[in-house]
Amino acid sequence: MKRILVTGGAGFLGSHLCERLLARGHDVLCVDNFFTGSKQNVAHLIADPRFELMRHDITFPLYVEVDEIYNLACPASPIHYQYDPVQTTKTSVHGAINVLGLAKRTGAKILQASPSEVYGDPDLHPQPEHYWGRVNPVGVRSCYDEGKRCAETLFFDYWRQHGVRIKVARIFNTYGPRMHPSDGRVVSNFIVQALLGDDITIYGEGTQTRSFCYVDDLIEAMIRLMATKDEFTGPINIGNPVEFTIHDLASQVLALTGSDSRLVFKPLPMDDPRQRQPDIALARQVLRWEPETQLAEGLERTIEHFRDRLLTQQIAELAALARSGPRQTAQPQAPTELVPDAPAQPLAQTA
Ligand SMILES: NC(=O)c1ccc[n+]([C@@H]2O[C@H](COP(=O)([O-])OP(=O)(O)OC[C@H]3O[C@@H](n4cnc5c(N)ncnc54)[C@H](O)[C@@H]3O)[C@@H](O)[C@H]2O)c1
Repeated sequence: MKRILVTGGAGFLGSHLCERLLARGHDVLCVDNFFTGSKQNVAHLIADPRFELMRHDITFPLYVEVDEIYNLACPASPIHYQYDPVQTTKTSVHGAINVLGLAKRTGAKILQASPSEVYGDPDLHPQPEHYWGRVNPVGVRSCYDEGKRCAETLFFDYWRQHGVRIKVARIFNTYGPRMHPSDGRVVSNFIVQALLGDDITIYGEGTQTRSFCYVDDLIEAMIRLMATKDEFTGPINIGNPVEFTIHDLASQVLALTGSDSRLVFKPLPMDDPRQRQPDIALARQVLRWEPETQLAEGLERTIEHFRDRLLTQQIAELAALARSGPRQTAQPQAPTELVPDAPAQPLAQTA
């Protein structure tokens, strides 16, 4: 049994990781400022005496005793990380300094959740780990891309200079239950639009390809990476190399939800990559890992999650309506939480 810290543990990936680590018998400390994550994501874990939830912003130092650290804290979708870009860079950079300092003091092993965005707008497909990337340092996405690149630099300098045991995972597009419903990502967008009967928006002709990894497969790879020998630091790509066109994805979502939403085509945005695909040869070799969940199976589980949330919310809204004054005929409405909105204000304000 180990004491494991998961920063960003109340987010999409973090909540699945906490769940899996508890199931393996570990003590889990989940630290989150609830910017994009929520208590609801880990509510089912609270009763477990080996689980602890702490509200904390990792841009401030944290003093706890742990054996392993998974550093996931950081908003991950453009809508959320561009909301307060200075705070995003601080979360990646100050956050990395704080968790690496903690690892140095406690001797804990530490894993960084880096994204495929560290490759920027790549001119090499698929991207192997030795590719240095093609990143704009002054654009609106730079707070995320460069923040995460700087965090990788810090990880490798703490390893070289202080002997901290590090692991750097480069994660590609992941989907599954508990994705933020309004983060603007293609999988959650399509599912919510289909369940609400809204038009499904496809940019361009939908021939651009994406690869999607189901969350359970990704979490398995992260845990295997943490268990590798100290000499293995990464970076290592984790993702699904199987590509689907956006049109394929929309068709599968329509079929699985039984929705009669229409497909609507809009012009392709300027910066929309034609293709993004991981080279996972290293993960196959070192982690003996590759994704196992088929897209249809993963989509079904994700759709079930969103359908449940939608139902719970509609029931709550109908109950509130029934309690409030004179009887009226309730009109079905789009649940407010599943309609895109601005993210909650982060705890720490940017200077
Ligand atoms: N989901 C993906 O497809 C994907 C792909 C590549 C990399 N990643 C990385 O994985 C990590 C988790 O991503 P996710 O999809 O679960 O996103 P998420 O937004 O659901 O989770 C991030 C969590 O971090 C918390 N957080 C943000 N800033 C914080 C701060 N300063 N202090 C404490 N907590 C803070 C949020 O409240 C949230 O719970 C991120 O670091 C992201 O860059 C995710």
